[in-house]
Amino acid sequence: MSHYVVTGGAGFIGSAIVRGLLREGAGRVVVIDNLLTGRESNLEEVRGAIDFQRADIRCYDEIAPLIRGAAVVFHEAAIPSVPRSIDDPVPSHEVNIDGTFNVLRAAREGKVGRVVYAASSSAYGDTEVLPKVETMAPQPKSPYALQKLVGEYYCNIFSEVYGLETVALRYFNVYGPRQDPSSPYSGVLSLFMKAVLERRSPTIFGDGGHSRDFTYVDDVVELNLKAARATGVSGKVYNGGNGGRITLNQAWALLQKIEGVEIPAVYGPPRAGDVRDSEADTTAAVRDLGYAPRFSFDDGMRLTLEWYRREGKGRP
Ligand code: UD1
Repeated sequence: MSHYVVTGGAGFIGSAIVRGLLREGAGRVVVIDNLLTGRESNLEEVRGAIDFQRADIRCYDEIAPLIRGAAVVFHEAAIPSVPRSIDDPVPSHEVNIDGTFNVLRAAREGKVGRVVYAASSSAYGDTEVLPKVETMAPQPKSPYALQKLVGEYYCNIFSEVYGLETVALRYFNVYGPRQDPSSPYSGVLSLFMKAVLERRSPTIFGDGGHSRDFTYVDDVVELNLKAARATGVSGKVYNGGNGGRITLNQAWALLQKIEGVEIPAVYGPPRAGDVRDSEADTTAAVRDLGYAPRFSFDDGMRLTLEWYRREGKGRP
């Protein structure tokens, strides 16, 4: 029986895809993760239903046998974070570019049905026009943005040159339960959630007018499952966002409102490599993949905050 592979399956997004696959009735799900940023606890209640393999995508020989013959590989393993790629570019280059190449090479040689790749909205950089459409020329502003873009190009080349089915999904600032708030490189909403639950001020880099198309993780899971099935999409790139845009000031205001507190944010200097505004045009994903995001920002934030509260990620 052919199987599904989720690289980075112990991570925040990867583990949500694993759950989505199991919900759909997938028979065999192989998780590849080196546990650098992923955690086995993210897979706690599904541990008995999956095949967990501690392996590193930087090592072709470790991952090739696990990938061989898979129906679909969801390639989520990465070292995320724009500032992390600026502070420490070597590991993020090796994982995000060399690792992606290894996954694609193993998929091609192992006759995999399709690779669905986690690309990033950071590839757009600062465009003159919003929302951002897949036909716009990429303008990466950081090593991370460039690395993720190279992965997209490799997906396209493996599709065009070698006939491997690939689809790249440009995620727009995904948030939700299990996003790890413990590092300074963590996604901003996870840091905001921790701050509000601990009744502390968050730091906002810049004036707080920066905006993002924050996307709830379950919407991204649905997009992945649809991208795994859609026909006539090989080699293509699709936006995975909500089609809206929320400023950091608005996000922090909402959390204060939900919690019934007033805690002014601390403002710091703007961050190097930061994109000012981000908003997805989802027309192509809706049309070709049947994408239908369901979670408003308000709903997603409430669900996420409840999860952090239950998990005790922030304690007053
Ligand atoms: C970028 C990508 C996103 C990708 C992510 C992976 C863009 C538009 N988005 O996210 O698709 O998934 O990398 O890491 O490039 N901020 C604060 N205070 C903090 C932390 C962050 O104000 O404590 C600000 C940042 O300066 C930025 C915004 O919040 O303006 C979002 O930052 P972050 O969550 O790190 O994600 P991006 O860099 O936008």
